[in-house]
Amino acid sequence: MLNIPLSLYIHVPWCVKKCPYCDFNSHAQSGELPEKTYVERLLQDLANDLPRVAGREIQTVFIGGGTPSLFSPESYRRLFAGIREQITIAPDAEITLEANPGTIEHGQFTGYREVGINRISLGVQSFNNDHLKKLGRIHRDEEVLRAVAELKAAGLNNFNLDLMHGLPDQAQAQAMEDLRRAIELQPTHLSWYQLTLEPNTVFYSKPPKLPDDDQLADIEEAGKILLQKAGYRQYETSAYAQSNKQCRHNLNYWRFGDYLGIGAGAHGKLTDLTTGQITRLWKKKQPKAYLDVTQSLIGGEERIASVAIPFEFMLNALRLSEGFSIEHYQQATGLSFEAITPIVAQAIQRGLLQQVEQQIIPTELGAQFLNETLLLFQ
Ligand SMILES: C[S@@+](CC[C@H](N)C(=O)[O-])C[C@H]1O[C@@H](n2cnc3c(N)ncnc32)[C@H](O)[C@@H]1O
Ligand code: SF4
Repeated sequence: MLNIPLSLYIHVPWCVKKCPYCDFNSHAQSGELPEKTYVERLLQDLANDLPRVAGREIQTVFIGGGTPSLFSPESYRRLFAGIREQITIAPDAEITLEANPGTIEHGQFTGYREVGINRISLGVQSFNNDHLKKLGRIHRDEEVLRAVAELKAAGLNNFNLDLMHGLPDQAQAQAMEDLRRAIELQPTHLSWYQLTLEPNTVFYSKPPKLPDDDQLADIEEAGKILLQKAGYRQYETSAYAQSNKQCRHNLNYWRFGDYLGIGAGAHGKLTDLTTGQITRLWKKKQPKAYLDVTQSLIGGEERIASVAIPFEFMLNALRLSEGFSIEHYQQATGLSFEAITPIVAQAIQRGLLQQVEQQIIPTELGAQFLNETLLLFQ
């Protein structure tokens, strides 16, 4: 019998307005949000998935978006009460909510804390008001400071700040200033993403002038040094954390754990612990269809063929600086490591991976050319 940790992802698909760089399943809000109906649909959604995870306990919850901080603490109270009627959430579970600094009202974080949310991820992006404007953000730097003061006052000291770099016309000094201002607030975790131009976004059809590859490489190098000096250790491509403050929910994805995904467009990955069969399932993407009680919530599902599992595992595990242990590979996939030793040996020979005792770790080259490493497993 396999033993694979289980997480729960909850998607809230609305935002005040759509940012021009964003390709997430998020939709500009028009009028009042159907919070009550949406919570009911989420609980129905969970009930449908439940037979697939019988007897298992949820280790982490992540409420992502969109902008989950548009929903009131009262909605989350009802949601968590309904979830707990259906499935056990571990007493020490990490429960994260994504918040937009432009939507935080006084006392709101206290309300979230009271319903069991114990970690906040704040979408800051930058502290530079010109950049915030170019990114189409609804907040300015002062709102970030206010939101952080609010969450600390609520006792939510375990929090992440999302920052992006490589912004339109951004100089290296400005990117470093963003990091310095973030560090000053002493988050336990920092996600530092390079802005990418995603298809089907405004920035993709009308690209702004971004720093060139050399400038980007310089920003990346200087930022890593700054973060390291401030006590933030990089543990994944874009994730940095103080000691023991890695995001447990994301670690479960990257370690190829299981997760239920509820909400519009949410994806789940579930393993049959007896047979090792992995299934991916997803929900209706459009909020309107998801809310329509006459329709099913299911978007689709597919079984992962066992030949595809090594690649799927690597897609996640090789993002981690620590890589993975041989024992963990076998435990998480139900497959023997021997079947992939020739490929691992080839990657080691090409300087993309290294083996330290029983741990397989991406080298600096391997982390830089992750796609090349992954291709070997395809
Ligand atoms: C799912 S978004 C939700 C966060 C929240 N709605 C907000 O923006 O305040 C999570 C994070 O992904 C990052 N992100 C979104 N689009 C991106 C892009 N095109 N390139 C790089 N990072 C991006 C942003 O840092 C964002 O905070
Ligand atoms: S607020 Fe966040 S999820 Fe919403 S559009 Fe902007 S980046 Fe995307």
